[in-house]
Amino acid sequence: MPVGKDALLIALAAAGLISLTNQVLQLLLRWRRGNPLFVLQPWDDGSCRAIADGLEGLIGDTPLVRIRSLSEQTGCEILAKAEMLNIGGSVKDRVALEVVREAMAEGCLKPGGLITEGTAGSTGVSLAVVAAGRGCRCRISMPDDAAAEKAELLRALGADVRRVRPVSITHPEHFVNVARREALAEPGSALFANQFENLANFRAHLRTGCEIWRQTRGRLHAFVSGAGTGGTIAGVSSYLKSQDPRIKVGDVRATVLIVVMLVDPPGSSLFNKVKRGVLYAREEAEGKRLRNPFDTITEGIGINRITANFSLAKVDDAFKGSDREAVEMAAYLLHNDGLFVGSSAAMNCVGAVKAARALGKGHTIVTVLCDGGQRHLSKFHNPEYLAQQGLVPQHTGRDLSFVE
Ligand SMILES: Cc1ncc(COP(=O)(O)O)c(C=O)c1O
Repeated sequence: MPVGKDALLIALAAAGLISLTNQVLQLLLRWRRGNPLFVLQPWDDGSCRAIADGLEGLIGDTPLVRIRSLSEQTGCEILAKAEMLNIGGSVKDRVALEVVREAMAEGCLKPGGLITEGTAGSTGVSLAVVAAGRGCRCRISMPDDAAAEKAELLRALGADVRRVRPVSITHPEHFVNVARREALAEPGSALFANQFENLANFRAHLRTGCEIWRQTRGRLHAFVSGAGTGGTIAGVSSYLKSQDPRIKVGDVRATVLIVVMLVDPPGSSLFNKVKRGVLYAREEAEGKRLRNPFDTITEGIGINRITANFSLAKVDDAFKGSDREAVEMAAYLLHNDGLFVGSSAAMNCVGAVKAARALGKGHTIVTVLCDGGQRHLSKFHNPEYLAQQGLVPQHTGRDLSFVE
């Protein structure tokens, strides 16, 4: 009996023979059915993207995806920017890149310099990714009750993570104030990214607006989005409204035909700001405030102040969206379209359906899939957490009756 090396050689030869026979059989079968070995598919139409130039070539220029289920159910074309396909996994890559690019162009930041930010969200990850690409150091301050996996991911990306007590923004130890102070401690070589007030955020999203305009060839009726810093809705709305030739007739302003709509989660004051001019959230009424800072399961959207970025947004209308609607929408998109999205993306799709109902059939509505569900495994996509919150998705089927 052959043993050791010989046995291994015989096994490999046998495996090779089986694989070859398999291939020959497949070829014979295709030949008998009259199918050639391969046919060029519609993807061979020359529309591939160009070569991306390094890491930064992998930020922006995201696909605009038609969401089949929502389009079919509403009678509108519901399109979404697939921002989870940016290299750092979220829409915030665009902001991080623009903030760093502008600071370097102005000489405020050099390779080896420090980038600081106070954030528990995706911006930290995006800054860590861009900092690594530009040879900078990155330090992120975050509240110590933020999900541990966020800190782990940041550390894996080479960022220095400071976890601080969650305190009010007026307190010097608030994570945003810590980040600002740390940048000030290295004058001339450190940058406080300051995503809420830094208008590089708004400028980054002028490009998002431009991409939407080109991808739809200017054929869209509405843009819908939630707002956190307000950078996305401000940049996209400004670009779209500046391009729409229907906005101006001669020098006279006519009806604005691309409508920009905000979708606002529980606890946020922006809905009332848009609808009534007053920055107020119902949850702020005395005795009603819950434990969570924005009374919502969604992350990244909802705010109770007007940031410099949001102040540039051109918003025509607003909807409220509930946590239940967002959770149901995320489950709906996964089951009907195979799209696994984060909480703000789900809320944006709720907004898109409300916009479709408000505008009527036949309209094209664009929104943003800010990030993927992978970033939300400990809360928004965690069945136990959802059960504790009484938010287990219940809707089944293809209708959209869960959107109020
Ligand atoms: C995941 C996610 N979605 C949406 C937003 C909101 O976008 P913007 O800050 O441009 O309003 C943020 C902002 O932090 C976010 O992190």
